[in-house]
Amino acid sequence: MKRLLVAGGCGFIGSHFVRSMLAKPEWRVINLDKLTYAGNLENLKGIAEGDHYRFVRGDIGDRTLVNELYERERPTAVVNFAAESHVDRSILDPAPCFETNAIGVQVLLEGARNHGVERFLQVSTDEVYGDVEQGEPCDEEHRLAPSSPYAASKAAADLLSLSYQRTYGLPVLIVRSCNNYGPFQFPEKLIPLMVRNIMMGQDLPVYGDGMQRREWVYVEDCVDAIRRVLERGEDGAIYNISTEEEHTNLDVIHLLCELTAGEASMDVASLRNRIRRVADRPGHDRRYAMRATKIREELKWNPVVTFEEGLRKTIRWYLANQEWVERVTSGAYRDYYDAVYVRAWG
Ligand code: NAD
Ligand code: DAU
Repeated sequence: MKRLLVAGGCGFIGSHFVRSMLAKPEWRVINLDKLTYAGNLENLKGIAEGDHYRFVRGDIGDRTLVNELYERERPTAVVNFAAESHVDRSILDPAPCFETNAIGVQVLLEGARNHGVERFLQVSTDEVYGDVEQGEPCDEEHRLAPSSPYAASKAAADLLSLSYQRTYGLPVLIVRSCNNYGPFQFPEKLIPLMVRNIMMGQDLPVYGDGMQRREWVYVEDCVDAIRRVLERGEDGAIYNISTEEEHTNLDVIHLLCELTAGEASMDVASLRNRIRRVADRPGHDRRYAMRATKIREELKWNPVVTFEEGLRKTIRWYLANQEWVERVTSGAYRDYYDAVYVRAWG
């Protein structure tokens, strides 16, 4: 069996990735997650610990724990999702973001180089390229110009990972994805926040003029891309993951109003009346745009879920899982974790 260390596997994208890897019998997955506010054991409900899966609660920045884990489990591959992933939080307090997204990654890389890891895949973001207000979409060679503390910490991790490849010969891979959406995304991010607020009768906050442009990929398509890179990507390579379709935030919010109204039998006009302009995010990037030619041509990846289809699936999931939304946003889930969590080793 091949042994894979996944960091941050209880978060949004990480939990979809863990499920996807466990669908095939050849992998043993060790999931290291700190269970921050964004990490949720319930996201992997139904997956039992055993030969194929093990959960370890811990911080990627904890050198002792991470080394012990490499020593005991001898993973041949590592995929790192663990991060403070929310831009707004990084603006309010950049420190936790640097501790995990930069220093934590150094700890994971160091363990990987000392324990003969054959593939280290760092999950990065389009935000490292910064604002592409005008001009061509970025390919993988585009200069890095991060705007927020979050984006800067992710760029730091990218550069550090590449330095481990160059200096120590650690086989590193980087994926830079556009915005993901789908089930299990913490409702602080645009799409699940809007669905939650619609259902709670609250306002729909638009930062600034709402004309910022983003590309959106359905989480399962992104996971498919990451898996292809892990299994067949070239050592040292960077791959953009993007649908190459841009939408303004305001268009996304209007579409969410329309689709949610349809799914929940609500009046679309009254939902749209709840859209409210609020103060803009400081340093807010106007546009992200990437080319995904490399992953399409080399690894034959293509997103299969259209934006409207993906939004419908997502809305249906959030409507059917309002208790999950309530739990993860109320803090009640902490008690749930404390009650069910049993550290499996050590
Ligand atoms: P998320 O916030 O939903 O999940 C992050 C996970 O990491 C959580 O389970 C959390 O408990 C865990 N974690 C945080 N700090 C940790 C630490 N110090 N040690 C161990 N575990 C820790 O994030 P997400 O949206 O699933 O994003 C996953 C990765 O993908 C991140 O690296 C993010 O930068 C990147 N990314 C996300 C998107 C997106 O749209 N969500 C797009 C591009 C890239
Ligand atoms: O682009 C990839 C990035 O996408 C990832 O690296 C990050 O981890 C992930 O959080 C996401 O960052 P964004 O800042 O793009 O996502 P967010 O959902 O926070 O915001 C999307 C856009 O919507 C952004 O332009 C800000 C705007 N926005 C967001 C919220 C929460 C609003 O207008 N209103 C809101 O209430």
